[in-house]
Amino acid sequence: MLKGRDKQQQFPLGELSPEQFLAEYWQKQPCLIRQAIPGYHCPVSPEELAGLACEDTVSSRLVIEKGGSSPWQVKHGPLQEQDFQQLPETHWTLLVQNVDQIHPEVHRLLDYFCFIPNWRIDDVMISYAPESGSVGPHLDSYDVFLLQGMGRREWHINRLDYSTTDFIEGLDLRIIENFQAEETWELVPGDILYLPPGVAHYGIAKEPCLTLSVGFLAPSETELLGSFADDQIIGRGEGRRYMDADLPLQSHCGEITPESLERIRTMMRAQLSDDRQLDHWFGRYISRRQGEEGHLSEDANIDSAVFARHFAESSYLNRSGGIRLAYIIEDDDVFLFIDGEEFRFKRRSLPAIQLLTGNRRLEYNTLQAAGCDQPFMQFLARLYHYGILYTED
Ligand code: SIN
Ligand code: CO
Repeated sequence: MLKGRDKQQQFPLGELSPEQFLAEYWQKQPCLIRQAIPGYHCPVSPEELAGLACEDTVSSRLVIEKGGSSPWQVKHGPLQEQDFQQLPETHWTLLVQNVDQIHPEVHRLLDYFCFIPNWRIDDVMISYAPESGSVGPHLDSYDVFLLQGMGRREWHINRLDYSTTDFIEGLDLRIIENFQAEETWELVPGDILYLPPGVAHYGIAKEPCLTLSVGFLAPSETELLGSFADDQIIGRGEGRRYMDADLPLQSHCGEITPESLERIRTMMRAQLSDDRQLDHWFGRYISRRQGEEGHLSEDANIDSAVFARHFAESSYLNRSGGIRLAYIIEDDDVFLFIDGEEFRFKRRSLPAIQLLTGNRRLEYNTLQAAGCDQPFMQFLARLYHYGILYTED
């Protein structure tokens, strides 16, 4: 999987190789990695984070354990300046989601996690807490790498199965009642604690601290079914209808007979029987941004020669945050999925496609060395036109 990658690529896994991490820890057990990113310092300051939490388009929460209107009070963003003025000295946490979509340096942090497929990435959430700030002992349903970005935080975990346990009643948060720590570690900037889904954890700030949660997505059966069904019915009219020209006289009109049930089952299964249709739907589904319809394939007047010169002059392009890119190899073709749309390329474009999908900064020279042909350069020009690739000036 890592073949052809930059040999200098660093993995935030300490002494562990990506293969060891995947075999022993991923989705299996917690893993503490001391100085996973040595000397790491969160590029977003507490003040900047508070500013982001006040923006309409940003998803944020304040959790006030003590000193709010009730224990573990939750205030949902967009927050206002006065929300911050009313805060107690200690025992609260500010959480801001999807910071990778807003902040280029936080976005590029995701390049460290290329040992997990792109399509599994959800977002980077950043929390700020003064001394004793916490969101309480809880469970998450996703994998997370908790990267300490400033200050010290103590993490307590327990691998007991708390899923059927009692959570404290009457709260906005699902906080585990009677949580007991099985292991405790203090994390300093650059340390990472990896947690698989369902491991109970409880982080308490020992001093003002910032924690970055690199979260991974695992779609549920319900989400998959719902989205697939939606995708299948778009533009299709009502489809074929149930037919029973050979209907025998039933012994009772109240019965749904085994023959009718078998016909319905066959009709339903036929909708899921085309592997290629399923694979392509999944690529489009998983690359879709929440609440946004892609418009990349729309007609646009794009001069790819002008773009190529501009790209060469600036030597690199950044990819904007929140864009999910993934590809499927199918015989002699590669299908690239982006923003819920799919684009077909010849197999010879694979090295260039791998550079685009594997890096949040695309270097002109590296791309040329990988063999970027005209159709692919035209495609990049399209991404540039729609702001998915951009230069800093
Ligand atoms: C935090 O950063 O305070 C909470 C992160 C988590 O527990 O998932
Ligand atoms: Co959590």
